[in-house]
Amino acid sequence: MNSHEEWAARFGTPLYVYDLDRVAAARDELFSMLPEGFELYYALKANPHPEVARATREGGRACRAEISSSGELAAALSAGFAAGECLYTGPGKTDGELDHALGLGVRMFSVESLGDLRHIGAAAVRLGVTAQALLRVNSLTASATTGMRMMGKPSQFGIDSETLPEVMPELTSVAGTRVVGAHFFTMSNAKDEASLIGEMQHVIALAAELQREVGLPLEFLDIGGGFSSPYAVRGERAVYDKLRTELENSLDVHLPGWRDGTTRLACESGRYLVGDSGSLLTRVVNVKQSRGGKFVIVDAGINTLGGLSGLGRLLPASVEVDGETGDVANLVGPLCTPGDILGRDIDLPELSGGELLTVPNAGAYGVTASLLTFLGRPAPAELVVRGEEIVSVSRLEPRRVFEQSVHETSGVAAE
Ligand SMILES: Cc1ncc(COP(=O)(O)O)c(C=O)c1O
Repeated sequence: MNSHEEWAARFGTPLYVYDLDRVAAARDELFSMLPEGFELYYALKANPHPEVARATREGGRACRAEISSSGELAAALSAGFAAGECLYTGPGKTDGELDHALGLGVRMFSVESLGDLRHIGAAAVRLGVTAQALLRVNSLTASATTGMRMMGKPSQFGIDSETLPEVMPELTSVAGTRVVGAHFFTMSNAKDEASLIGEMQHVIALAAELQREVGLPLEFLDIGGGFSSPYAVRGERAVYDKLRTELENSLDVHLPGWRDGTTRLACESGRYLVGDSGSLLTRVVNVKQSRGGKFVIVDAGINTLGGLSGLGRLLPASVEVDGETGDVANLVGPLCTPGDILGRDIDLPELSGGELLTVPNAGAYGVTASLLTFLGRPAPAELVVRGEEIVSVSRLEPRRVFEQSVHETSGVAAE
């Protein structure tokens, strides 16, 4: 029995397996592809499992944490990040979340609008502290045309760059806050190295221009990310051989003080750091033919993987499985909806039922990016390993807690 068979038999399927050695390797490789002194923020939205997050900060150069909710803050703290190492992002930070985060010691916030900054400032004043603000900029122009673009169009994210000359005086005088720099996260999952470099060069040049033209403070500049990694298909993380030199050249031209620390520099990544650490093990429940089509029904569906793909927000159009293939079929999940499709007419082994399949590169945007409670199936178990050694096994447990009810039913009920 190989370890996947053994773990699946022991903990049941569907089962996520995350290998912390691979998280550490991805982290070290990404740091080595960035200029010396760059900080790297791990975006917990990719996988908030505390042990996975912990592996981005322990045993090598340490990542910081990019978070955008109280839940991600709790996960970051339980992974060992200090509150002061967290960057709080997101367009809809509520007063309650801000009070909570500032109360726990978070001080750095990405600011998506003047209104957002005023909320942050009011919360900081309530607590008698000063929040550091990074203005997230929605640049009118862009370099890369590939990847998932988040900027350059009307958006809930960022402050439109062309409005900065007018709003800068207001932005820099909000009580309880100090604008210390800028945050750009313009795209996710760049298509290739040239588009990643082009986008980052564009960001550096624009930040320098805004510093010169409108007095944007640049003690800290987060140039964003876009580092790509395969999602639920076979393949390797991208290698960026030229990135380091190209960024250094660009910084030398536009922000010459960067080498002596005048501007702290940072990047962010979710999928690159954890994507290839994970596999999803799923068992074939049934195989059926229908009007010439073959359907392989497995116990993992869009409640387990890729639930966000319906929003066009995430790949995949189609997952792949490890190992030899020799048949073509539709791979579908167990949910009672025709939308529960993991792949249409994809290459699969010859299957008759009961086999274990492994979906590779499933460490990012897995369980928590899925329709976890839809149709009431239990969440998959999540097994954390270091190579062959088991570190932990756990399972998220969605449940309804009645705060009030006209019925006797009270307390906790399973979903
Ligand atoms: C602000 C911010 N940072 C980081 C990320 C992580 O992106 P990725 O997983 O593609 O690295 C995202 C993803 O949406 C994001 O919105």
